[in-house]
Amino acid sequence: MRIAVVGSGYVGLVTGACFADLGHEVVLVDNDEKKLTALRDGEVPIHEKFLQELLTRHRGKRIQFSGDLQAATRASEAVFIAVGTPPTESGDADLSYVESVAREISGGVEGYKVVVEKSTVPVYTSQWIRTIILRNGAAPSQFDVASNPEFLREGTAVTDFMYPDRIVVGVENERAAEVMRQIYGPLTSGWYYGRTEAIPRPEAAKTPPRLIVTSTKSAELIKHASNAFLAMKISFINAVASICESVGANVQQVCDGVGTDSRIGPRFLNPGIGYGGSCFPKDLMAFRAVAKENGYDFRLLEEVHRINEEQRHRFLRKVRSVLWTFRGKRLAVLGLAFKGGTDDIRESPALLLVQELLREGCHVCAYDPAAMERAKEVLTAGVEFASDAYAAAKGADAVLILTEWEEFAALDLERLRALVKYPIVLDGRNLYDPAVMVEHGFSYYSVGRPAALTEEVPAAVLKKKERA
Ligand code: UDX
Ligand code: UDX
Repeated sequence: MRIAVVGSGYVGLVTGACFADLGHEVVLVDNDEKKLTALRDGEVPIHEKFLQELLTRHRGKRIQFSGDLQAATRASEAVFIAVGTPPTESGDADLSYVESVAREISGGVEGYKVVVEKSTVPVYTSQWIRTIILRNGAAPSQFDVASNPEFLREGTAVTDFMYPDRIVVGVENERAAEVMRQIYGPLTSGWYYGRTEAIPRPEAAKTPPRLIVTSTKSAELIKHASNAFLAMKISFINAVASICESVGANVQQVCDGVGTDSRIGPRFLNPGIGYGGSCFPKDLMAFRAVAKENGYDFRLLEEVHRINEEQRHRFLRKVRSVLWTFRGKRLAVLGLAFKGGTDDIRESPALLLVQELLREGCHVCAYDPAAMERAKEVLTAGVEFASDAYAAAKGADAVLILTEWEEFAALDLERLRALVKYPIVLDGRNLYDPAVMVEHGFSYYSVGRPAALTEEVPAAVLKKKERA
């Protein structure tokens, strides 16, 4: 199939590259000329596993880049809208980019097209897209609008695209359904998985994936409901972690006991400093807003949001309770991205905590494997950036782990112990077994588990003892 993908951001770029790997001819459209030039030159503006390989494999062959949306629409059988849907002040989704793209698409509708909303949009958006395209002169029989929400997690987006739990397609008639079935045919037929150069299969993958065909409104709701449920699951276990702290229980043990119930499952049950990213926070507020507009006051979502905010404030209080005072303290911060495996700092709890620590007068020395460049654009004074975790920890009054990067879960603790000024670790992502930290001479504080304390011998005193 010939497919246009509008918006070469986190979602659009992955979608276009994966469609090309399925065998389709793809035009990636963007209104940011700088971005198009960078992409044509082989640059990959986002940190996604396998994305570089796919773009290198298909750039100039099955993937073209263009700034002319009308021409791309005319040349395609399907046009995927993957532009940003950022939150407005009031929390609902700003759909102005979607509208301006829909308006432009209408000028290219000659011969039957399916216009597909890939961006996360509130229910009814597909109807609005249809209205806009009609108002701008396209003939009703020449196009249909479909909803095809993405369930891509950042850091694993390419794998999530090729090995999805399900593909959701919302359509209003069989003609549009047929086009969507053809587009995803390489996956639903299993053909793709037999190819030698297919993206590696994750062990838990079920192939071929189910294609679930629904109405457009149901597909739009599936996306919001999925993200809201996942965010609720995280806030739920964070609330349970706070109760564990009050009663002296261990939330990891509670997670094991609760997560082994097959109806609940162990995934997305990791307590920490809360969720961030460009999706959960905004999708939760957008879902609440669109529910309210349609007469349902989804107050539960407000509580999910409140618990998430509170989780970060609780962690800051924990740091204060361990250090007594903040002013002038040197803190090593491991992690700035909103989660491990990505360079994205949008709504990152780690970044928000660093800003609060700076406001309290701390000196922060931060390290993140991928997100430091983006963080430098946001963090101004008072932050040093280190070349690795150990450089960040040098002379630190305490080490804070704020992002669940795998490398932060496998630090050389002996080496770390020798570098810090005081052997204190506050872990916002529960990456370590407290007993292991105590064995290595650290006092270790985490989320939802009792503090694990060693005799806090400052490194200077330790060195003197060792020399003696
Ligand atoms: C965004 C949201 O984050 C995600 O929740 C939603 O599902 C899809 O849209 P993302 O890829 O992160 O995903 O958006 P962003 O990184 O902002 O990329 C949007 C791209 O669209 C940018 O490259 C921008 O230049 C381009 N764009 C935006 C257009 O080409 N035309 C426009 O009118 C507006
Ligand atoms: C999410 C959804 O998972 C994905 O399906 C949707 O398409 C986009 O939004 P993403 O935001 O990229 O994906 O990352 P995700 O892995 O879901 O993590 C979101 C946030 O939750 C991160 O800040 C992460 O640190 C946090 N998280 C995740 C937890 O705090 N605990 C968990 O158990 C899981």
